[in-house]
This record gives sequence, structure tokens and C-alpha cells, in this order.
Amino acid sequence: MQVNYTVDCLNKHESVSNEGCVNPIATVIIIALDLSIMSQNSNKLTSRQANPLFGSIVVPGDKSISHRALIIGSLAIGTTKIRGLLNGEDVMSTKNALVSLGVDIWKDDNEIWFVKGVGLNGMISPPSPLNLGNSGTGVRLIMGVVAGQKITATFFGDKSLSMRPMDRITNPLDKVGAKIISRDRGLLPVTIEGTRTPSAITYVSTVASAQIKSAILFSGLNARGTTKITEPLASRDHSESMLCHFGASITKQILPDNQCHIELTGEAELHATEVIVPRDPSSAAFPVVAALITPGSDICLPGIGMNPLRIGLLTTLREMGGEIAFKNERIEGGEPVADLHVRASELRGISVPQERVASMIDEFPILAIAAAKAHGTTKMSGIGELRVKETDRVKVMAKGLRACGVIVEYDDENMFVTGQQSSGGIKGGAIISAEHDHRIAMSFLILGTVTDNPVTVTGCDTIKTSFPCFQEIMNKLGTNIIIGDDL
Ligand code: S3P
Repeated sequence: MQVNYTVDCLNKHESVSNEGCVNPIATVIIIALDLSIMSQNSNKLTSRQANPLFGSIVVPGDKSISHRALIIGSLAIGTTKIRGLLNGEDVMSTKNALVSLGVDIWKDDNEIWFVKGVGLNGMISPPSPLNLGNSGTGVRLIMGVVAGQKITATFFGDKSLSMRPMDRITNPLDKVGAKIISRDRGLLPVTIEGTRTPSAITYVSTVASAQIKSAILFSGLNARGTTKITEPLASRDHSESMLCHFGASITKQILPDNQCHIELTGEAELHATEVIVPRDPSSAAFPVVAALITPGSDICLPGIGMNPLRIGLLTTLREMGGEIAFKNERIEGGEPVADLHVRASELRGISVPQERVASMIDEFPILAIAAAKAHGTTKMSGIGELRVKETDRVKVMAKGLRACGVIVEYDDENMFVTGQQSSGGIKGGAIISAEHDHRIAMSFLILGTVTDNPVTVTGCDTIKTSFPCFQEIMNKLGTNIIIGDDL
């Protein structure tokens, strides 16, 4: 039933019809105007203080796993069936790019997706440049795919994606043998001329990044020999697990100094299979923190992905005193999942261990909100990577929290947030720009559930990249998020 709620909500946007109207042209104009007003309004959301949150909601499918299911399914022989795929904008950008590369992808009435794979050498050069919108994962992973085939593609994206470094991907892909044409620092737009005979490279990455690792692995699928990658700490391993699931031969070893070493045997053959996408722990993070900081709350989030390389936030929040129970732990579709039961809790600030950063890399904005309601100071160190996400998340979080009356210090690699638990309420009453960053937008809307004055966020359209129907789903729990402003 909960799933239907999400699906209904999506279908509402997808199935605008002119049934019953006299003049179809006028209807189209009216619908267009209506949608444009809706989109202007829904672009600005305001969050007001909430009563205790109660109930159970289903959060969307995992974004990382959804991208990979579509990409790896496209490279397999046969038709892959995907349940629980995230129907968010980022994943749809990946889907559209794969369709332009010659892959057939469709869904049935039950939201089950099908990908008719073309094999490891079956893609075609797209007729026009590929628009990956806001999706860093989509663009970087597909660059790896193109590099290892005899095709050429140009990639571009929105304002935020166009400012993100791509040289971390194009440098290793250059070693693989692909020809790269790009601006300085590999900024988009980038053209990649792939090779039919990619080299199996050995690459030591200075960043624990699943995007770098996955792009290299995808480029190595067609290589003769073994592609070897070492990363400073293990990043999320969904590509490795899913490649295995599709029949590739891949090994992983944690070295004594915690480096992670991965080897992929080239000239692989991937076979279509079924994928079940768990619910995204990075999306669950928002209702989890909302319930922890809103007094009297008690909520349940079924079927959340519990991959150990993704749940650093849950570990951190529990160390801060958060009452989060993992119930009904099980394996679904090869990934660990559990139902989360969360109760409002008194939180205290802690130092987040640096070795945990990779396992909660997307969760620092919402951790900063939890920290703002904790006793004492929460120290986040070694978080320089946050500065090259959809926006500079350290700077933007600090600015927004300060505007709401929270004490924040930061430098290139660290952020310290001092909570207002002991000194009374958080003032709020600010207008925050999402800066094309879904996680910034959602984080400040969650802050507004506990501030003395409402918090308004502009640019909320970006939320649909990862969490379609965020407002409706959160309000079902009892948050008070309205369209427009209220200051
Ligand atoms: C992702 C990897 C992470 C994360 C991003 C999703 C992925 O990026 O921030 O949202 O699906 O591979 P990095 O690999 O750059 O850390």
C-alpha cells in the first residue's frame, strides 16, 4: 500500500490528460500554464514546526543501485528485470542516455523495469550529445562504459554538474586507451572516443570514490587481462556485487592499512538476471533525523538497504544517542536490508571517525542538522570531498545553518556544528537556496520541523533527482512542509 502511495504520486505528474475538454489546443495551453505555476510553486517549500512524527513510510529505491542495474543490464546478454528502481530524475537521465546508446528499456504497469542488454560491444554512438542533468553518478559511470567500446559520445549536464571535476574519471580512462576531449580540469562537456581494445590498467586512486572505481571497472569489462584498482578506503561496492551477480569474475581484498584492492577479469560475459533494488539508506536519512529531533516521534521505515559501506550515518546517530532499532534484518536481492524503528532522542555531539566518512559521504548535510539539535559540538573531519558534490556542501550548510542561528565553524576539510539543545531553540526564519543540491534542500526542510520560525527553501525542484514526492511522503509522517513561503 505504501508503495502505491509513491507510485500514485508519480503517476499524477506523468498522466496529465485532456479527456472531456472541448478544445484540445486550449487544454494543452491550460495544462502547460498550470504545470508551470505548479513547478514555480513547488520550487519553493516552507517547513514549519511539526507535531510528533508517527507512522510508517516507504522511501524510494536506492539511487546508486538503480543506476548500476540499468547500466549493467544494458551490457548483459538477455533481458534484465528490475524491481524497486528509483523513478527519480537522476536515474531517468541514465536511462535516457542508455536508450540513446541503443539499449531498449521499458517498464510495465507494475513499475517493473526491463532492460534488453546489447552485450559488451553492442552499443552505438548516440546521434546527439548525452544530457546527464544533475547526475554525477550517471555521467561518470557511463563515461567508463563508452571508453571500453568502439563508440563516441559527448556528455553534458546542468549548471551544477558542469562545475564538477571530471578529470578524476577522464585521467584513468585516458590510460585505458580512450580519446578524451574536454575543457580544463575535465569539466563538461566532455567527448569520449572509446576503444575496441581497452587496456587492463592498474590504478591507485587517491580518493575513496565508488564513481572512479566503477568507471574503471566498466571500461575494463572488454579489456584483455585483469583490471586492478586500489582505493585508500573501501567505498560503496554495489558495482562489484552487481557485476558478480551478472556473472563477471571479480575479487576484493582489504589490505592491512585498510586500503581496498579490487581485480576484475576482462573479456567478461554478462548474463541478464533479476535485480531487486532496496530502499535507499541515503533517502531514509531524512525521515530518520526528522524523527530523532522532533520530540515524541516514533516511526518505522521498512526495507532499508543496510550495506555496511552505506550506513555510517546510522552508526554515528546511534553513537550520538539516537534510538534506532534494526528490525527483521535479512538479505533481499543480494543486499542486506532491515526495517528501521526510530524514536525521538536526546542527541549529544561526537567526533565522527575519519575512516567512516566514505560510508556516509552523502549524509553529512543531514548529520549537520542532527548536530544542530544535539548537546555539544559534533566534529566532522576529512570531509573535503563534500566540497565537490552537487554544490560545496560544507560552505552551503555552514551558511544556511548560521542564517538559522546555529554556530558552525569550518575549513577545507572540517566542519564543527555546535548544537542548540542546551541553549533553547533554533531561531530559523531564513530563506535558503538549494543550490541545485537535493540533499541541501531536504536537510533544511527537516531543520524547519524544529525551528522557532519556518524555514523556506528555494530551488526544491532538485529534490526529485533522488526523492520524488518528498513533501507528500514526509507530511504523511506529520511534518508540516507547505508549497510557497510563510515568512
Ligand atoms: C555514488 C558515489 C558517491 C556518492 C554519490 C553516489 C555512486 O560519490 O557521493 O552520491 O553511486 O557511486 P563518490 O564516488 O564521488 O564519492
